[in-house]
Amino acid sequence: MPDFIIGEHENITGIEKQAPDRVTDNKERNQYRELDNVIQEYTKKPGQLIGILHRAQEIFGYLPEEVQAYIANKTGIPVSEVNGVVTFYSLFSTEPKGKYEIKVCLGTACYVKGAQEIMNTLKENLKIDEGETTQDKLFTLQSTRCIGSCGLAPVLLANDDVYGEIAAKDVMNIIRDYQKGDKIES
Ligand code: FES
Repeated sequence: MPDFIIGEHENITGIEKQAPDRVTDNKERNQYRELDNVIQEYTKKPGQLIGILHRAQEIFGYLPEEVQAYIANKTGIPVSEVNGVVTFYSLFSTEPKGKYEIKVCLGTACYVKGAQEIMNTLKENLKIDEGETTQDKLFTLQSTRCIGSCGLAPVLLANDDVYGEIAAKDVMNIIRDYQKGDKIES
């Protein structure tokens, strides 16, 4: 495991309760406030960076450079180190995600039952690759490992909705439901 992941940081700076200067939007200001609270909570513990980044991604939806720089500034951890952790772990994203995150399980049971064909159909029709988001910001395409529903293989997830025993020829019908707004996020 790289040093930056296990390192402890003694030089924690004081926490100021303010967002970057350019932030005038209330929603964003509140997001930074929430992040301040997270940083305050975590900086009391060693090896806290991953925890902070994880919560920051929950708050902002992704980790743009500005948020990384903000965390570096508030914790005293070099920005290069923050960025190193963000890019090391695939669970962190530096790009905004679509409204719907479409995940195709490529675990063994799903793979055997045609999951790759489902993935290919999605790539072709949405005109994006894995990890990318459609231009209309509606869909982000991801693969995932076994989600423990092998009996339903092949499995596709759309945010929290699980679709099992799907065929490649049907997958775009599911997508169209979301495009039509038939599916409302809970
Ligand atoms: S392999 Fe896909 S759910 Fe188990």
